[in-house]
Amino acid sequence: MQIVFGIDFGTTNSALSVYRNGAVEVVPVDDMNQAGNLMRSVLYFNEDKEIFTGGEAISRYVEDGAEGRFMQSIKTFLPSGSFQSTEIFGKRYAIDDLVAIILKKLKACGEAHAGCTVESVVLGRPVVFSTDAAKDAMAQQRLEKAARKAGFKNIWFQYEPVAAALAYEETMEAGEERVVLIGDFGGGTSDFSVIRVKGGAFNRSDRRSDVLSLGGVYVAGDKFDSQVMWSKVAGHFGRYARYKALGGNEWVNIPASIIYTLCQWHRIPLLRARKTRELIRTIKQTTDDRQAIEHLENIIEDNFGFALFQAIEKAKCELSDTEMASILFTECDLSLDEGIGRGEFEEINADNFLKIENCIDEVVAQAGLTPAQIDTVSLTGGTSKIPHIQQLFATRFGQDKSQTRDAFTSVVHGLGSSVPLFV
Ligand SMILES: Nc1ncnc2c1ncn2[C@@H]1O[C@H](COP(=O)(O)OP(=O)(O)OP(=O)(O)O)[C@@H](O)[C@H]1O
Ligand SMILES: [Mg+2]
Repeated sequence: MQIVFGIDFGTTNSALSVYRNGAVEVVPVDDMNQAGNLMRSVLYFNEDKEIFTGGEAISRYVEDGAEGRFMQSIKTFLPSGSFQSTEIFGKRYAIDDLVAIILKKLKACGEAHAGCTVESVVLGRPVVFSTDAAKDAMAQQRLEKAARKAGFKNIWFQYEPVAAALAYEETMEAGEERVVLIGDFGGGTSDFSVIRVKGGAFNRSDRRSDVLSLGGVYVAGDKFDSQVMWSKVAGHFGRYARYKALGGNEWVNIPASIIYTLCQWHRIPLLRARKTRELIRTIKQTTDDRQAIEHLENIIEDNFGFALFQAIEKAKCELSDTEMASILFTECDLSLDEGIGRGEFEEINADNFLKIENCIDEVVAQAGLTPAQIDTVSLTGGTSKIPHIQQLFATRFGQDKSQTRDAFTSVVHGLGSSVPLFV
């Protein structure tokens, strides 16, 4: 009897499914995750050289007062040539080493569930890791290397939105056939596919001819958080502060690069570079907003970017259900209570939504279809809960065509359903 795992290694969340005897089961992978069968894709290294993943990593990091090294959105770095490796408490980790730690943890959970060693896996991958073909290939190679290091021997890849389509198929009646546009809105990427789905036909044959088109953009949950930081919060950290450069009498703006870096919380530690620190010290001497520059120093020194972004993300998620939310955050002498309305959220993210819209239109056109020829729209991924995203589809394809799938596990379920395509 062959058992194969499906692994959805996501920017924010990861999950695992078990394929056995033609059936697919999504299994729990993190005791501390209340949201369901997910594990947050995060790592924490403490000073005693212990390594934690998922919910445990988050709680240890918070308990330890952010002393060790915390990492998230690791998937985002897979296509980045500038991220080769990182040193953590005297040990060097290549990016695939980091990913391998998460995959190993998932594998162990799956094996505990299956009751045996499993060496085969179907891994999900976004349609676009990078628009640069060389970087895209590198990202997949790194993911494959990570899977090998985690102990897998047989490794296949499936596009995440295609996996979501296969999961959708299992809910259809035998003989039913439809053209579906799948939208998978995660933390790092928004991926699309137009695929012909067939009830009762799933996992029987090569499905390549049924995939009519694929596309994706690097605009998803993380970008929305960054935008909220930029528009609503960065002012508290000196976005509008000016200073007088050495010897001059002219007001100059604080370098935008510092504020950009601040808007991606996992890059904030880069601002600890000596030169940047010195610059910020200089700015503080003459600035017209000393308090903001002190907050900037504090967020860099005390590394509370993670906690701040959690507050931002929380407000963003609330806006999916309510018209108004508040970004509430207290740290050092900063006390934030910043209201944000749904309309305002949509306005500040207009460019991000536009990129998504263009991508949807392209994917439909590439399939050689008009919107009217799409039978069903199926949305998945955490970011698909944003009402404006659902609205984009309703406007183009009609309200009655839209369905929302289980936001967090349809991809991993479909990865399990993909198994017969490969083995
Ligand atoms: N109710 C909500 N409203 C808006 N956004 C939400 C909501 N719930 C979750 N999210 C966002 O969804 C994202 C995580 O979704 P998901 O778990 O599908 O991503 P992922 O699979 O890890 O990422 P990717 O597929 O890009 O690798 C996060 O950015 C999170 O903030
Ligand atoms: Mg995903």
